[in-house]
Amino acid sequence: MNINIEQQKQDQISSVLVCFIKEDATHSFSSEIQEILRVHDFSGKKEQIVCTPSFGTTQGDKIIFAGIGTGDENNIRLSARAAGNHARKNGLSHLTLDLHGFSHTSALNCIISFAAGNYRFDKYKVSKPKTDGIESLSILGDVDEKVLLHANGLIEGRNFCRDLVNGPPAEIYPETLAQAARDLANDQITVVVWNEDKLKEENMNGIIAVGQGSSNPSRFIHLHYKPKGEARKKIALVGKGVTFDAGGLSLKPSAGMLTMRCDMGGAGTVLGIFRSLVDLQPDVEVHGLIGAVENMCAANSYKLGDILTMKNGKTVEVHNTDAEGRLVMADCLAYGSDLGVDYMLDIATLTGACVVALGNFYTALFSNEEDLCAQLISSANHTGEGLWRMPLPDFYKPMLKAEWGDIKNVGGRAAGSITAGLFLSEFVTNTKWAHLDIAGSAFYNSPFQHLENGGTGSMVETLYHWIAS
Ligand code: BES
Ligand code: ZN
Ligand code: ZN
Repeated sequence: MNINIEQQKQDQISSVLVCFIKEDATHSFSSEIQEILRVHDFSGKKEQIVCTPSFGTTQGDKIIFAGIGTGDENNIRLSARAAGNHARKNGLSHLTLDLHGFSHTSALNCIISFAAGNYRFDKYKVSKPKTDGIESLSILGDVDEKVLLHANGLIEGRNFCRDLVNGPPAEIYPETLAQAARDLANDQITVVVWNEDKLKEENMNGIIAVGQGSSNPSRFIHLHYKPKGEARKKIALVGKGVTFDAGGLSLKPSAGMLTMRCDMGGAGTVLGIFRSLVDLQPDVEVHGLIGAVENMCAANSYKLGDILTMKNGKTVEVHNTDAEGRLVMADCLAYGSDLGVDYMLDIATLTGACVVALGNFYTALFSNEEDLCAQLISSANHTGEGLWRMPLPDFYKPMLKAEWGDIKNVGGRAAGSITAGLFLSEFVTNTKWAHLDIAGSAFYNSPFQHLENGGTGSMVETLYHWIAS
């Protein structure tokens, strides 16, 4: 979707005007509008939506009134999502947001959230219900052109991620994920893709093992964005790209497997951020590293008891083939450790235990770098996304002790997300590192806070904010 947000003059209102109103502030409107709002019992409380014909009170055909409660940023976000969602459900596609009196921050939050609530993945719906998305979005009020460009770049990035995560596994497999990366290449972004021969040559045996049971060959994807001027910092983003996680020989039950196209959510986040980099071009150097595999149950799948020699030389005993993400990520992290970056972040739908602990709203943050944690949490507070720090204590490392190899790939039921993080830490050197487990936040099984079910694009905006600040 290319939304094309533009500033618009009062006399060119599109067919639907969207007005945001604080609680009990309805008196500031004309008496005709106050009457319409009174009839609908509209008080302006947060997330309250009323959609009415405009009865000639404005130029457009319809008005959506959205309550923003106290008007704080979180209420603005939720209400804008609710309004965007309402517009989509009703096929309203030519819209004007009235942002008079909004600060730059509120305007940005409002536009981005409106688009997030409006998003649908409906390209496979050939019959109803399929409703029109935004065709034109114009803005009333004194909103800087830069804010509109910024909003557009972030919306494109998040939607790019959501489309990839929602794409069914017959469409999104390692090579097509690699192609999505190649499509982002330009004079600032280079993309290199390694095939299985190269992966073997580079000792990326975690990736090889996990992907060997699939007829869709594995890929390692390296994107590299260089700013036009000097880079203020260098960053590597590592994304889990398991395009389908059947569990391998430790096969998942059908119910758990159904949504496992979301298991490339970390890769989707990285690619979404690169999509934003294309437009927004911050002065930061960014590497994107993706291990792209399918974890299938087949005659040549990797097996329990296998001992893998990973890229950094450590050996891993396989106790469960469904704990595959950490094996794929380990090789990527070892590769990223040699890039000379200041920070390396990894993003992965890594553990079911994370969903049990934090549910769908929160991404779990693991890192022992105090500064980095503070920065990331501050960025999440800025964008309104949930990011919750979890402990990463060395004294749990013995849970990963193996009998035959250096470590095993599972640590038992207790502290499942933490031992997964500790496993990853074994493959990181030379850089400040944080691990983000998005198992809950990347994909919703049912709509939540006016976001549709499916891929959410969580953390694209937060991580972009962190990169650019
Ligand atoms: N991809 C899953 C984790 C997951 C679960 C993501 C639910 C999103 C929603 C991961 O590969 C996995 O299967 N992990 C196992 C690890 C266990 C075998 C130690 C799990 O969480 O059950
Ligand atoms: Zn798994
Ligand atoms: Zn997985």
